[in-house]
Amino acid sequence: MTHDVSAAHGTHAHTHAHGGHGEAHQHGPGPDGLAEILDRDAELFASYLASVTARVAELAGDDVRHIVDLGAGSGTGTFALLKQFPDARVTAVDSSADMLEQLARAAAERDVTARVETVQADAGASLPGIDGADLVWASASLHHLDDPAAALAVIHGALRPGGHVAVAELDGMPRFLPDDVVPDRTGLEDRCRTALTALHAEQVPHLGADWGTLLAAAGLGVEYEHTEHLRLDASTPLPASAGLYAHRVLHRIRGAVEGRVDAADLAALDTLLDGGAQDVRHRDDLVVRSTRQLWIARRPADAGL
Ligand SMILES: C[S@@+](CC[C@H](N)C(=O)[O-])C[C@H]1O[C@@H](n2cnc3c(N)ncnc32)[C@H](O)[C@@H]1O
Repeated sequence: MTHDVSAAHGTHAHTHAHGGHGEAHQHGPGPDGLAEILDRDAELFASYLASVTARVAELAGDDVRHIVDLGAGSGTGTFALLKQFPDARVTAVDSSADMLEQLARAAAERDVTARVETVQADAGASLPGIDGADLVWASASLHHLDDPAAALAVIHGALRPGGHVAVAELDGMPRFLPDDVVPDRTGLEDRCRTALTALHAEQVPHLGADWGTLLAAAGLGVEYEHTEHLRLDASTPLPASAGLYAHRVLHRIRGAVEGRVDAADLAALDTLLDGGAQDVRHRDDLVVRSTRQLWIARRPADAGL
């Protein structure tokens, strides 16, 4: 079944909804706070995002007119790419109507509505109505899809011969805390991370996959691969929004690890989130760390001829 969600939500972007099982992956900007985390992440690591889109432009060239942002979320990649490629338009695809609604609102605020189309679809199954794209951008989204090989075949089919795909992934949730952040709870963040790794193995088993090998197996020639260890601390100096970002991420982690770490660790996490003296929003000893990976691959120019 298809329906047009743009009318229902009063947005001005051109939005199409397509069937599929993407509802199971829905993340909204609502209770789980993912959209805010994505926006804060893009803000904090803006220079990294700019360097990544610049690297994509070096390989894809200036003649990029149609970009697909696969699993676009709130639009962090869409807006960075519109900036990098001033002559391009972006089709933002996501399974979540809430995310696309938020993205359309942000596009209107930035006055780029005419350059953005939103499509609601399960990108692992198809990219409906899309072919001949110059560039597919997939940031922190491919690991959500059920079958990486099938998803990469869909991407291959959406690209023009010679078109590029950029896959940006991360090694899990960022880290923030000094080891002794809560007295008697040394290793709190490590234990949360271990619990999260177990959860991810069940829920998003393709997080941490070797996308270089998978891209090559899908007939997409890998031209670039890079791992970056991002780090922001008080010497940087730490942007004011880092505390808020840490709060939103740790709040999400707290929800995820409940029942997987002991009660004392949960209580320690609460002291970092409750608005009191230890709250991460007030601390000056946070160290934001995150590992990001990037692969850029190309559909062979003569493919399909
Ligand atoms: C972690 S967010 C990344 C968002 C954005 N690319 C970024 O880097 O800020 C993952 C996004 O993938 C979307 N997603 C998950 N499964 C999907 C699917 N099967 N088809 C399309 N989008 C999907 C989610 O709704 C979410 O917006």
